[in-house]
Formats: sequence, structure tokens, C-alpha cells
Amino acid sequence: MSSQPEKIPVAIRERHQQLCSQLHRHNYLYHTLDQPEISDTEYDRLLQQLLLLEREYPDLVSPTSPSQRVGSTPLDKFLPAAHGEPMLSLENAFTTDDLLAFDVRIKRFLGTAVEIEYLCEPKLDGVAVALTYEKGKLIRGATRGDGTTGEDITQNVRTIRNVPLQLHNDFPELVEVRAEVYIHLDDFRRLNQLRRENGESPFANPRNLAAGSLRQLDPRLTAERPLKISCYGIGRLIGQAPQTHQQLLENLTRWGLQVNLAETHCAANINVAIHQYQQLLERREQLTYEIDGMVVKVNHRDLQEELGVKSRTPRWAIACKFPPRQAETVLESVRLQVGRTGAVTPVANLASVNVGGVNVSSASLHNWDEIERLDVHIGDTVIVERAGDVIPAVVRVVKDKRTGTEQAIPRPSHCPVCSSPLMQEVDEVVPRCQGIDCPARLKESLKHFCSRGGMDIQGMGGRYVDQLLHLNLVGSIADLYRLKKEGLFQFERMGEKLADNLLAAIDNSKNRPLANLIFALGIRHVGSHTARLLVQQYGSLDKLSSATYEDLIAIHEIGPQVAGSIVNFFAAEKNRALLAELSELGVAPPTEKRQPSGKLLAGKTIVFTGSLERFTRKEGEELVMQQGGRASGSVSGKTDYVVAGPGAGSKLDKARALGVTVLSEDEFLELITPGENQ
Ligand code: IVH
Repeated sequence: MSSQPEKIPVAIRERHQQLCSQLHRHNYLYHTLDQPEISDTEYDRLLQQLLLLEREYPDLVSPTSPSQRVGSTPLDKFLPAAHGEPMLSLENAFTTDDLLAFDVRIKRFLGTAVEIEYLCEPKLDGVAVALTYEKGKLIRGATRGDGTTGEDITQNVRTIRNVPLQLHNDFPELVEVRAEVYIHLDDFRRLNQLRRENGESPFANPRNLAAGSLRQLDPRLTAERPLKISCYGIGRLIGQAPQTHQQLLENLTRWGLQVNLAETHCAANINVAIHQYQQLLERREQLTYEIDGMVVKVNHRDLQEELGVKSRTPRWAIACKFPPRQAETVLESVRLQVGRTGAVTPVANLASVNVGGVNVSSASLHNWDEIERLDVHIGDTVIVERAGDVIPAVVRVVKDKRTGTEQAIPRPSHCPVCSSPLMQEVDEVVPRCQGIDCPARLKESLKHFCSRGGMDIQGMGGRYVDQLLHLNLVGSIADLYRLKKEGLFQFERMGEKLADNLLAAIDNSKNRPLANLIFALGIRHVGSHTARLLVQQYGSLDKLSSATYEDLIAIHEIGPQVAGSIVNFFAAEKNRALLAELSELGVAPPTEKRQPSGKLLAGKTIVFTGSLERFTRKEGEELVMQQGGRASGSVSGKTDYVVAGPGAGSKLDKARALGVTVLSEDEFLELITPGENQ
């Protein structure tokens, strides 16, 4: 292949442009307006078309292409990014009097007695960023840093789905947008749940998760985190300046940026702003994201200018903080909880206390490393915090209040429910119950099996699962499919119609997609994403159950831990029996392996190595699959081709040593181009 710049046919350029516009539009409809017009599958289809086109004509790739959302090459370090105007912080107000004093200060400074109009915005609890748009294109994303210089996180910011890569309508010549990156509470809880199941320490709060995700050197990791952005102001602007802050926010919205207008209100004077604060405080619990206060800003921008800034804070804005969601109470005892995977976690029983409006009587202690770190004992006075997680956490011990009668929290050696011995693996933070028949594990397994991502048995929530076990109606997952109406009638308040609905829901679940069943089985380390990968690769439970460790580890994205867990699961006699029972009872997910569209690599095993430039690893693997081949993660005697990009290391050496054919990326693309080698 030549290294001359390619000549791209006009029709291809036009098609690319059209795909970019369509994808930008659907992305905006979905992630900013929450009003999708097409299905996820249709979106993926358009994206695949774009990726293929860009693979064939790499010169088409631009920083604003929707393909950049998946994350590009990892960095060694972040470069400094100087802000066009300093990123200021805010002074805090904690009481109504603080707000009234703010209003007095403003009027005094302006030498006026006329009421000041304020804009009241929610203060999102996330991470501050600055986005620079030049001629409507996103050219830079930066953290706040010391306010003058932050870090260049452009690649990561591009992966945030509701950050427009290209502005709409009457955007200005240049604008530096100020915004908060945050994460929705349900996403935060889901990710933490996953970490707990995998024996990892959960994130302390949504802000830490957002901050950690944003500072990944590998943008592909950031792309995997469901980050969101909400804009609240600007720094540098070359273009027409609006008269009020409200108009500015409306402009941002018109340009395609997300602004929390639903929770933003204009107040004619400070008393109205105080009322807004109380209203927002009441709504706080209903919001799907964390806010830690309300920001009150002078609405007129000419007044803002006149008021100016102090050293690091503007005179025209103030943050009215919400009361912390922390409270002091006594840790009375500790109970042990056993999860689906046998993980035993300590939970603190607390003297009931009101934490920011909610009564709390238990809190997570996470694990014994955490207990040691906190140095917490039974009888201690502790600080509990509700930090976005469903379960509040003990964050600190008030050591001054110790009396000397506090007792250590012992590490358990046996399961509190079935008394089986506990085991803790070296790289894990929790001990696990090894009892395969442990009732506590069965309860959690049933809940997981029936859950939405699993077999989605509607109506079969935790309460009914408890009753099924209490009434001895089930002794295994398979027993769910043996339930009869008479059995269900033993439930409290169970009528004919409800029982029919429940049985119908159970029956309907028999044909759920294979990925749902694999997830529902609760194989350790196998979440929805891995389940889908396995379906793509194996297509049926039969094939998956006979996959070897080597087969599995060869799949990109499946590491030793996951592969080991899958092999162990299918090796266990009890699990094989369960699968046979489910099949006999009519659980039959449709086979859905994607048919290869070509056969150019039928039966061949291909390994990708080095930093690929013509396509991403995922796209390469997709192409291999489309041509009937198998992508593997490691080079062995069975490897047919190694595709090596720049910087290829040990895998390339091994391929050469084994005499495996090594291809450049271009040679690989030629190999799979129909007509040239058929
Ligand atoms: S205004 C000059 N408005 O709160 C204006 N900040 O110290 C400075 N924040 O980390 C900020 N929501 O990222 C403003 N509606 C809002 C905000 C907000 C959250 C964050 C901001 C910064 C901190 C202020």
C-alpha cells in the first residue's frame, strides 16, 4: 500500500459527513434531550458504518467525529492547560443571614438600594472542567487545577456522551464553557454494587468516582464510565455577550450544551432566592444526582462586571451550602451479611439517627481492612454519612468519646448462616462462604436470577423471594419453574390475578436472550457485558460450558480471573445439573450467534498487538469475527496471523520465534478485502 495521502471520493466524503451529522444528532437527542428517535441497535449500526468508512479512509477521522467517543490512545501523562480566564471558586453561605449579608454587600458595593435580581442554580457535586470551543468545535477539555492552569483532559472529555463535539446554531467564534462533570446516582450505585460483588472496595461517593474516571490516562476507561456534564457558565468569549446570566445559559442550551434549566430559577430579590433555596433543599432527595447546595448569582452581567472578583472568588456569586448528610451516633453491634457470591460483609447496627432528613439505623463497614483503617469498635461514637450509596457508611470514629468499654469487631471464621468455613483469597478484601447450599446465598442468587439484567421476572422482587424461601417453596433456582398457583396462594395477600401474572412472568422468562441467562446464573466476575461477549463468541450454553481456560483467555477483554471463574462454574457438578434441569423445564434462550458475513478468515486465529493506528483492537476483532475467524489475546503455535502495529513487543517476538506470519495493519485489511485473495 502506498503512503501517499489518499484521494477521497466526494461521494465518500459526503456519506461520512452525513453519518457524522446523523450520529451527532441522535447522540444529542439521546444524551442531552433524553428523547431518542432511534433504537440503540440502529445507532450502533450507523456508528459501525462510520467506523468502517474511517477505517478505509483514515484521513476522514477528525477530532469531532462521533468515533472519538469510544476513547483513543492512552497518554503517559496529562499536559498542563492554561485557562483563558481564571477558574474561580465560590464563597460559602451556611445560613439565611449569610445570604442576606451577601445581598447587603452587593448593594453597598454598587451604591444602590434597588433590589437585585438573582439566578439560582443547583450546585452539582462533581468535578469542575473547562471546555474550549473554537468555531464551534471542541478543541480542549481541562480540569480546574490551581484555577490558572489545569490538566489537559481533552481525550477523556470527548468520551462523555452529552458533551457536544460540535456546537449547533449561532455559536460564537470562541467560548470557554465552565461545567461540572458528574455521575447519576443509579449509575454510581450500580458500579459500586459490581465492585462489592467482585470483592473490590466501593467508591466513597459519586464525586470521587467522577474525578477518578476523568483522570484516567487511558480514555477508553473513561469512555466506560457513564459520566455526564452540566454547564453553568463561561470563561473567555469571543462573540456577542448576552446581557444576563440567564440568557447566557439559554445560549449554551441552544448551542447544544446541557444546562440544568429545570432546576434553575430567577429570583426578583434575595428573599425569593432564600425561598428557592428551601424549595431546592426539599427536592434534594428526589433528584437523581447529588447536589451540595444552591449557587446564587447576580443575573445582570454588567453588574457582575462592576462587582468584579476578589482574589479567588467573584463578588457576584455565592454557594449556599446544604447541611452535610452526616450525623453522630453510636455503633451498637455488627451483623454479617452474606451475598450471592458468598461474600461476607460487616454491617453496623446503629442507634437510630436522622441524617439530613432520613432515619438511619445501619451503615456499611465494607470489610475488615476498612474496620482496621477506621479503627472502629463496637460501642464507639461514629460519624455516618449518606454519600449517594443506598447504604450509608461509617466515615469516622469520634475517639474523644471513648470510654474504654468498646470492643473489637472480630473477623468471622465461619458463615453466620450455614456455618461453612470462610475463605479469603489473597487479592480480595472480603472472606467468602464456601457452602454451596447456603440459604443466604440462595436468596441472593434468586434475587439476581429474577432481576432486570437477568431473567427479568417482573414482580418477583425481594419480598416474594423471601416468602418463597420462608415457605420452603424453592430449594434451587430451577424450582422457580416448578411453582404452582396453590403454592403462591400461601403468600400473604396473594390473589388469583397476581398469582397468574407472576406465573406468566416466570413462564415468559424461559425465552430470554442467552446473555440474560448467562448473567442470571451469577457466575462470578461475569456481568452483562462479559455475558454478551461470551454469546458473541460461543452462541450457546453447550459450547460455552465446554470452553477451556485457554479458549476463554484468548478472548480480548477476558482475563485470567474471569476465565478461571467461568471454567470453575461449568466444572461444578451442581451447576451442570442445574443447567440440565433448567433445560428440561423449558428454559431455552434463542441461539443468537452473529453469522459471519464472509469466510476469508474461516478457522483462522488472529492476534493483534502494538498500538494499532488503522482501527481499534475492538474493530479489528469485529472484522475477524465477521470473516469467520477468531481473535485471540495470546500468541501460540495455533496462531495463524499476528497483526502488529507500532510498538509491538513480546507478542511480536514470540510470533517470530514460532514462525507465525506477521502482518502489518494494511496487510491485514488487504487480507480481508473480498476479491483480492479469493
Ligand atoms: S459558579 C465564578 N455554578 O462549585 C463562578 N459553580 O467553588 C464559579 N459548581 O468546583 C463557579 N455547580 O465547579 C458555579 N451552578 C454552579 C455550580 C458550580 C457546581 C462547582 C464548581 C466549583 C465549585 C465552586
